[in-house]
Amino acid sequence: MNYKIALIPGDGIGPDIVKQAVKVLNAVGEKFGHSFSYVDVLMGGCATDAVGVSYPEGTAEACKACDAVLLGAVGGPKWGSDKPAQQRPETALLAIRKDLGLYANLRPATLRPALKSASPLKRETAEKGIDLMLVRELTGGIYFGKRDKYQTPDRGLEATDLMAYSEMEIERIGRRAFELARLRRGKVSSVDKANVLETSRLWRSVMHRLAEEYSDVVYEDVLVDNCAMQIVKDPGQFDVLVTENMFGDILSDEASMVTGSIGLLPSASMGDSAPALYEPIHGSAPDIAGQDKANPIATILSAAMMLRYSFHLSAEADAVERAVDAVLDAGWRTPDIAEPGVTPVGTEKMGALICAAL
Ligand code: IPM
Ligand code: MG
Repeated sequence: MNYKIALIPGDGIGPDIVKQAVKVLNAVGEKFGHSFSYVDVLMGGCATDAVGVSYPEGTAEACKACDAVLLGAVGGPKWGSDKPAQQRPETALLAIRKDLGLYANLRPATLRPALKSASPLKRETAEKGIDLMLVRELTGGIYFGKRDKYQTPDRGLEATDLMAYSEMEIERIGRRAFELARLRRGKVSSVDKANVLETSRLWRSVMHRLAEEYSDVVYEDVLVDNCAMQIVKDPGQFDVLVTENMFGDILSDEASMVTGSIGLLPSASMGDSAPALYEPIHGSAPDIAGQDKANPIATILSAAMMLRYSFHLSAEADAVERAVDAVLDAGWRTPDIAEPGVTPVGTEKMGALICAAL
């Protein structure tokens, strides 16, 4: 079987880490008898430099012609918030999410056994382990609501960002969360701010309806401020967390940080039809771009998620994840996760070690 993958290397360390994920995919292909072909897609700050806009015409179509999309990272200080929207890499990211209908963003935060000491949490908390899946709504809410900026008669300029959610949008992300919980430890924690926001009250009522339908899944409501606290206090209590777009943006950074290894965490964004998009959750780290210093593991694990969710190749995905664990267990570290006294390896070498472990 041939699988066609759109590659969006993007900016900063993006090209460095995507290259390693491709190496690993090719090694998987050889071992298991699949072939992967790749189409390069230009998007992000590099596209602004090359053609003047971060999201060139035809980007979504090029991705839609493929079975899945692998993205490195986009963004950098060069294309900052002082630049017009069509030149900013973030604009491209939001546009591709919308154009591919990627409403469900899965961000697993797991504490890998070999890296317990890297967690900033208290030892006894880290010992309990972290294995949660944050399901973030990705194409609605305040990220996509109407924005405005206007002059007031007496208070200077005023700006607004509208947060809107429909029952349809809440139900489809809710279903994803409950289905995932069934494959995991059977618990959904829905995060909202129902003590203040009308969108959250609607969110909660839809989730309660689903909780009745999925009565085999344990369900709880968690207020977002309390959730932020619980993630540092006792993250082991969570299995699947489901929340709206902006809460999910914030909580996923927090959840990744407590695992102590933001360079290790993958993500998947999916809709009702292919292609889904896979990317590491970390940024483009322009300060270390092209220097063989970036950790490719999050991108390699994103490729593993692609094998699992888009291609239904779970033995292959397991093999990649086991290879990563084996390399970490053997003590190999990139600079970002190296304990004091450990000599780190570079991006290329880490990719090669994982291929060899496969
Ligand atoms: C993320 C990022 C993006 C977001 C930015 C770059 C627009 O922070 O994927 O979490 O806010 O969604
Ligand atoms: Mg974010």
